[in-house]
Amino acid sequence: MTVTDDWWRGAAIYQVYPRSFADGNGDGIGDLAGVRARLPYLAELGIDAIWFSPWYPSPMADGGYDVADYRDIDPAFGTLADAEALITEAHALGIRIIIDIVPNHCSDQHPWFAEALRSPSARKRFWFREGRGELPPNDWQSRFGGPAWTRVPDGSWYLHLYASEQPDLNWTEPEVHEEFEDVLRFWFDRGVDGFRIDVADGLVKDPELPDVGGAAERLPYSDMDGVHEIYRAWRKIADSYPDKRIFVGEMWLPDPERFALYLRSDELHSGFNFDFLACPWEPDRLRAVIQSTVDAHAPVGAPATWVLSNHDVTRHVTRYGRSGDTGFDFADRRHGTPVDRELGTRRARAAALLTMALPGGVYVYQGEELGLWEIEDLPDELRQDPVFARTKGSDPGRDGCRIPIPWSAPFGESWLPMPAEWAGYTAEVQESRPDSMLHLYRKALALRPGDGAMEWIDLGPDVLAFRREDGFCCVVNLGCTPISLPEHESVLLASGPGAVEGEELAPDAAVWLREASA
Ligand code: NOJ
Repeated sequence: MTVTDDWWRGAAIYQVYPRSFADGNGDGIGDLAGVRARLPYLAELGIDAIWFSPWYPSPMADGGYDVADYRDIDPAFGTLADAEALITEAHALGIRIIIDIVPNHCSDQHPWFAEALRSPSARKRFWFREGRGELPPNDWQSRFGGPAWTRVPDGSWYLHLYASEQPDLNWTEPEVHEEFEDVLRFWFDRGVDGFRIDVADGLVKDPELPDVGGAAERLPYSDMDGVHEIYRAWRKIADSYPDKRIFVGEMWLPDPERFALYLRSDELHSGFNFDFLACPWEPDRLRAVIQSTVDAHAPVGAPATWVLSNHDVTRHVTRYGRSGDTGFDFADRRHGTPVDRELGTRRARAAALLTMALPGGVYVYQGEELGLWEIEDLPDELRQDPVFARTKGSDPGRDGCRIPIPWSAPFGESWLPMPAEWAGYTAEVQESRPDSMLHLYRKALALRPGDGAMEWIDLGPDVLAFRREDGFCCVVNLGCTPISLPEHESVLLASGPGAVEGEELAPDAAVWLREASA
């Protein structure tokens, strides 16, 4: 079957973290009723699709990335019928739905793991091994801190690359393949348009489970053919539907060539480009990351995707306002570094225009369009992310970017408290202010070009400037002094008040121009 509607190639996809997006029933936890009520807001924002972080039944040991049942909705979020209604309503507004699938691990409350605990003969779906004396089977470390192994009462150990409540599944087992293929069909049959694949590059481990010297990032995934085989099978399932269904891989791969292998025409449709997200606000570094991303995608013909923030990383208003290093690194969140929030916000506005002018797809993390910043001063007793506990507090974890969205003040109780200062940043307040971040995002999403070629324009070392099709041109000034704009017919959009004065672009500002026709 040939499916030709390539809607995802230039799509703007909005990430909903369900616990924190919108609370429909007033219990302090976001839910699907809340999302349904906000669909008109998202349609007006101008997005093409929503990606939902996991909405499945989960004990929430890792905010839903510990799935107990892949075919239902967590009762705190609603019911399967609510999800079906949401999909129908979103489609009616022209919004597609992408959901997270978590195939690397499940919850320790999943029936498979309960069975494995009861009977050693049912353990082959996971990685159970005997220890080395009192020590775990190997030296692998969990990505959330501490050993990647937990011991069960009969003395065996099981592998978990994340929290101990997230046992890793064994993808050498045919039954694991069959189960996930069935889950994909279950949701495709309910109208879901695609999946974001959690830990997409981590499913297939070296069955020898060799020592690696303790470093989580060096875990050996020797069976690369195995993982490509999984995605080829998944792609066939997606392509068997009459309208286009897609897969987006979450991959933290340092090697662009390996990254591109996942995006071959019979595998995933796109993958996250985290090099761009992790990159500091520096012209040379950004230019290099953009170019290497475009170069890596070109041979496989896949569109690049651009992401500034998500539910795992420090919000970019905060990162870009920091003194010193403005990049992101899981190994050091630079929590508590002094932040000039006004500067961070100015740069976030410019970064929004940069990101949305680049060729390919763009992801907007909920609250980004309101210019929300990382909440770094949450009291320790309120922190819920397992990263905080597993690292004994040396890593504050990810709660600070998961604070519920401030729709309107006053705020009610919520599972993580909203700071009082956000009363000035609510969607309601920003709606009434034409210069707000919300209005900037709306205008940018309406005007942005999609996928296609880009061509750099040299305006000096501190400037990122490039043209797209039809005379569309983006200029970003990362230097300390104003720069002269290139010749143009009109200004389409500037990143903020004061960004463009006469023929000059201010520092830490961006502009979209229509070039003079030849
Ligand atoms: C990546 C997800 O984005 C993150 O939130 C989660 O904790 C890990 N994968 C484990 O599922």
